[in-house]
Amino acid sequence: MAQPLVASIDSGWSRTDPSSSLPDWTARLDEIATLDAEVRDAAIGFGAALAGATDLGTLGEIHTAALGRERGALTLALAEVPALPLEQRKTRGRALNLAKKLLTDLAAARRESLGRAAEAQRATDVTIPGRKPWIGRRHPLARIYDELLDLFHGLGYSVYTSPEVETDAYNFGKLNFPPDHPARDAHDTYFVAPRGAASGSGAVSDVLLRTHTSPGWVRAMEERKPPLRLVFPGRVYRAEQVDASHMDQFHQIDGLYVDRNVSMADLKSTLDTFARSIYGASVWTRLIPIHFPFVEPGAQMDVSCVICDGRGIIAEGNSTRRCSVCKGSGWLEVLGAGMVHPNVFRAVGYDPEEVTGFAFGMGIERIAMLRHHIPEIRLFLENDLRFLNQF
Ligand code: DAH
Repeated sequence: MAQPLVASIDSGWSRTDPSSSLPDWTARLDEIATLDAEVRDAAIGFGAALAGATDLGTLGEIHTAALGRERGALTLALAEVPALPLEQRKTRGRALNLAKKLLTDLAAARRESLGRAAEAQRATDVTIPGRKPWIGRRHPLARIYDELLDLFHGLGYSVYTSPEVETDAYNFGKLNFPPDHPARDAHDTYFVAPRGAASGSGAVSDVLLRTHTSPGWVRAMEERKPPLRLVFPGRVYRAEQVDASHMDQFHQIDGLYVDRNVSMADLKSTLDTFARSIYGASVWTRLIPIHFPFVEPGAQMDVSCVICDGRGIIAEGNSTRRCSVCKGSGWLEVLGAGMVHPNVFRAVGYDPEEVTGFAFGMGIERIAMLRHHIPEIRLFLENDLRFLNQF
């Protein structure tokens, strides 16, 4: 007789109880057991392996080993049945046919459930939480910048951009700063070393990083004829000792209006419009005389403190404390302004007897800091998302 039926069961196959794949497994196996013990053992061995197969490839391999048309263990055993003695032929033949049917059903059930599992893996699982796309946002300074440009655009101003690397003449000379005038002291200037000069050679440079956006007026006026109504936004540089309210680079926006008969009253109404739009409809303003070489008269505009509503003190429980933002004064300095100095008109070839004009200039960081109660100017440049995500 050929080798025993169970010989072709590979001991490396993993095994599982087939009843979870085929509910009537036990009943059908019991019937085989009453007929032929060896066929029962073969059914148990192949059945456990089919149930334990975890992929379709292994399942096919086991199926072939048991039921393959040419070399399947049960197929070969069935072929031998006609040669058996009569009484054994009946029971063995019936047992083998039952086992064949049982393993075929089991393999089909298993193939279906493995197929379903593979499909589930390929399918889109609509219950998985989505991946949030990263959404960027405007930098707080860029928002103020846009707001200012909107406002001035509405007042008839267009934007004029001028270089960040300037010459002494545009940053100072043509703006009526005499060569050794103390007004230059307020502008701690970064000079750009002349070409070829060794650093520390003491050579005095004519080229510098602009300390304010006012040089733009000179360039615009040299280029164009009056009337002019322009704003000059951009980055400026000063060799500051860096602290919570000073940076060595920051942003300004200057404004310039030149025409016949422009008056201080025009300046005042423009600045009031600006203050109410940017700081709030309820602020009040004041102009204080102050010296800037490029305007005469020159003024500083203050707005009532937006933190303490101009009171200088803040209520805290039963007592009050001094407002730290306006230092108790109730006022905030927000910009410089004035009527364009006749010497500036002369420097650009305008006739001061014919045209007049006003100008103003302010820091953009300061507006954002007051608007959002930001205590630290360095945050604007650090690109820390914990800060930027708040706007
Ligand atoms: N440029 C000046 C500064 O940076 C600010 C300023 C003052 C600008 C008066 C003006 C002005 O246009 O009229 O300190």
